[in-house]
Amino acid sequence: MDADELRRTWTRFWTDKGHTVVPSGGLIPHHPSAPMFTNSGMMPFVPYFLGEEPVPFDPPRAASIQKCVRAGGKHNDLDAIGRSPRHLSFFEMLGNFSFGDYFKPDAIAWAWELVTEVLGVDADRVWVTVHVSDDEAHEIWADGVGFPAERIQRLDADNFWEMGATGPCGPSSELFFDFGAEHGPDGGPANPEAEHRYVEFWNLVFPQYYRGTDGALSDLPSKNIDTGAGFERMLGVLKGSPSLYAADSVSRMVDAAQSLTGTRLGAGEDSDVALRLLADHARTMTFLIADGVIPSNEERGYVLRRIIRRAVRFAYLIGVEKPIAAPMAEKVAEVLGDAYPEVRTNLDLIWGVLDREEAQFRRTLRIGLRMLEDEMSSLDPGATLSGNLAFTLHDTYGFPYEVTAEIAEDRGHSVDRAAFDADMAEQKRLSKEGGRKNKGVELGDAQATFQRIVAEHGPTVFTGRDEESTQATVLAVVDTDADGLVDIILDRTPFYAESGGQVGDTGTIIRPSGEAEVLDTTYAVPGLHRHRARITSGTLVAGDVVAATIDGERRAAIKRNHTGTHLLHWALHEVLGPHVKQQGSLVAPDRLRFDFSHYEPVTAEQVARIEDLVNEAVLVNDPVRHYETSKDEAMAKGAIAFFGEKYGDRVRVLEAGRHSTELCGGTHVTATGDIGPMKIVSEGSIGSNLRRVEAITGFGPIERIREEEAVLARAADLVGVPVGELIEGIEKRLGEVKALRDEVSALKAKAAAGGASDLAAQAVDGVVVGRVDGLDRDAVRTLALAVRDQPGIRAVVLGAAPEGGGVALVAATTADSGLEAGALIADAAKTVGGGGGKGKDLAVAGGRNPAGLDDALDQARAAAGLSS
Ligand code: ALA
Repeated sequence: MDADELRRTWTRFWTDKGHTVVPSGGLIPHHPSAPMFTNSGMMPFVPYFLGEEPVPFDPPRAASIQKCVRAGGKHNDLDAIGRSPRHLSFFEMLGNFSFGDYFKPDAIAWAWELVTEVLGVDADRVWVTVHVSDDEAHEIWADGVGFPAERIQRLDADNFWEMGATGPCGPSSELFFDFGAEHGPDGGPANPEAEHRYVEFWNLVFPQYYRGTDGALSDLPSKNIDTGAGFERMLGVLKGSPSLYAADSVSRMVDAAQSLTGTRLGAGEDSDVALRLLADHARTMTFLIADGVIPSNEERGYVLRRIIRRAVRFAYLIGVEKPIAAPMAEKVAEVLGDAYPEVRTNLDLIWGVLDREEAQFRRTLRIGLRMLEDEMSSLDPGATLSGNLAFTLHDTYGFPYEVTAEIAEDRGHSVDRAAFDADMAEQKRLSKEGGRKNKGVELGDAQATFQRIVAEHGPTVFTGRDEESTQATVLAVVDTDADGLVDIILDRTPFYAESGGQVGDTGTIIRPSGEAEVLDTTYAVPGLHRHRARITSGTLVAGDVVAATIDGERRAAIKRNHTGTHLLHWALHEVLGPHVKQQGSLVAPDRLRFDFSHYEPVTAEQVARIEDLVNEAVLVNDPVRHYETSKDEAMAKGAIAFFGEKYGDRVRVLEAGRHSTELCGGTHVTATGDIGPMKIVSEGSIGSNLRRVEAITGFGPIERIREEEAVLARAADLVGVPVGELIEGIEKRLGEVKALRDEVSALKAKAAAGGASDLAAQAVDGVVVGRVDGLDRDAVRTLALAVRDQPGIRAVVLGAAPEGGGVALVAATTADSGLEAGALIADAAKTVGGGGGKGKDLAVAGGRNPAGLDDALDQARAAAGLSS
């Protein structure tokens, strides 16, 4: 029987017994008495057990298959996951419930019917327990059901079930399956040595009490039934396996874990634990996020974070380097999405949350584990691990105490818990004080603070040449303005502070109870790195030990551009001459900029040559050496010093391959090949004898090629030819455009000629004065000349208000007209706010004022001796 079939069988059976089958409630319980997560099937029904709300079912009975999480609080199975085949932090619980309706006789009889008659479980291998005080249940089993009395045992606390610290509770009767002598000694469930042999698979609880916050029991308004059969356990029993991982809804997750990790079950004890843990934790994290829990440092969010981190840590330990959490979640959605659509519909959210959380944790994990390993390797066998270290790992690297303890225990060490607790208490006290100390520092005070820090602690130790993440202590958090950003000063940092043209690093500064996003890094005062940051959660104060981690991908891009700049500098020298001097530079992740002195334009051929030289130097893949030496030594090597930069006695020299040696304090790749291709994207003058080159390296040229390919494809699409024929296609189009233009001109000329004879027909005494709006200046001129050439015409004055604005006036006269073109429109031009046009037989004038055009034309008539 597989998961789906069991679900169907369960639902059908209880429907037949008059139960309303309700869908699973959420994992976040709502009742005030409830623990952190929904840990059993009865949780959504608490208000009915307590009589707080009327029972909405008629008869008042229900059945469900409820998703449950047991990770924290009274029912916490987290620590056993992976090691024990009988625990899951997420599981489904089959349940039937009676709210003051049927009680023990029916509950027991129906459970027995379902187990033996419907599911076909071998009755001879079932054992039953009842509470020591519960004669009634004992009698029902023995006399009512006829269950052999020798397999009924009476237990105390084990047969009293409680929801949590508070809430409904009552005696219970449990059903166990005997998996046989190979799994443990005889003696039934009462024998604690035999827990792997007799496995509980159904718990019938008879809730009749309420446990209050004072711990006292009071009677519930009615007697109820709350049963819970572990879904995966039931599947295990049906498959003859005591392992929950035999259930197909779990085994398919183990399969996914195997294929995603590339590790087979059975390869080793540790990897088996990891695979099982991944299978379980993936289900838990996926369902928690689907129900709205987000990883954080408090309560539910913290449990979720712990679960995610634990899964990632186990995957990491078996060598999984690529993200695992989100792909596992996708598998959960596939396996359980039919029964629980919420994991499918929320998959995007789940994926995003897991991906971010995993990436962040992986960065700190590496360092933390290394620290722990270092420490343990120096411990004597069985010695206690320092509580201070456990605290640092917790506080800085987000290792829950339990995780450190677990790793230590695996290696036979315990942890000094008292010292850990003391550190925690001290840290709380400090944060409170620090929180007060760091409020509202004025800008002037900030500068003084920075000076004081340098005086007290010396300059910030820069670790960013060797590591991307560094454990550091916060020396100050200074809130200087109202933009919501703070300046964080650390004793050590991997963040490069902007200098020598290289931009500052971005990244994160994290401790479990506070996180900051670093937006930029600069020098607050010489030698002191200022991390400009936004606190994204919790608090950060002086004294906190943090993990400072740069955005490694961004830094890698910066490095490529920086070393690339050095090669470019060398190539400029080679191609343009030794007079080329660096005047400034910018090294950013997406581009590099290099300003240099040069007195003439750089030709396209020179640009290509410079590019070629750089790319040749890249492909040779010479080592890049970066070291500290004395200034004299560096100069002796011919290192180019950047004009204007101040250098101390000790300087850093960068040898980028065989050609380029410069002083440079930036960060660089380790071989020229790391730069990747370089492409110059612009070159031009930025002042007298000053030019600027911009270039891209690494993935930049590839992205650019891609963008340009897209432009070409679009252009080809518009022209309607394949990309390879784009030039011919455009030429053909241009030819067509020219032909159309010529045709338009011819048509216009023809139209003008037609217009000219119409106008000529309006002549008075051989003179035409008219308004021809809609034509531009040239067209007005052409038309005027055409009118003048008509028979019997002496003079013509045309005015127009072209669409583009303004006024055009044109006068044309014949030689024997006795009229002068310029004189005809002299006054008119003034009237339209313009001037010009003094010619004898052709005058053209412009104006700004179209409103005056009609008056102007009257003036022209008058000037021609016509009455207006
Ligand atoms: N609420 C009971 C349990 O979870 C049935 O075991």
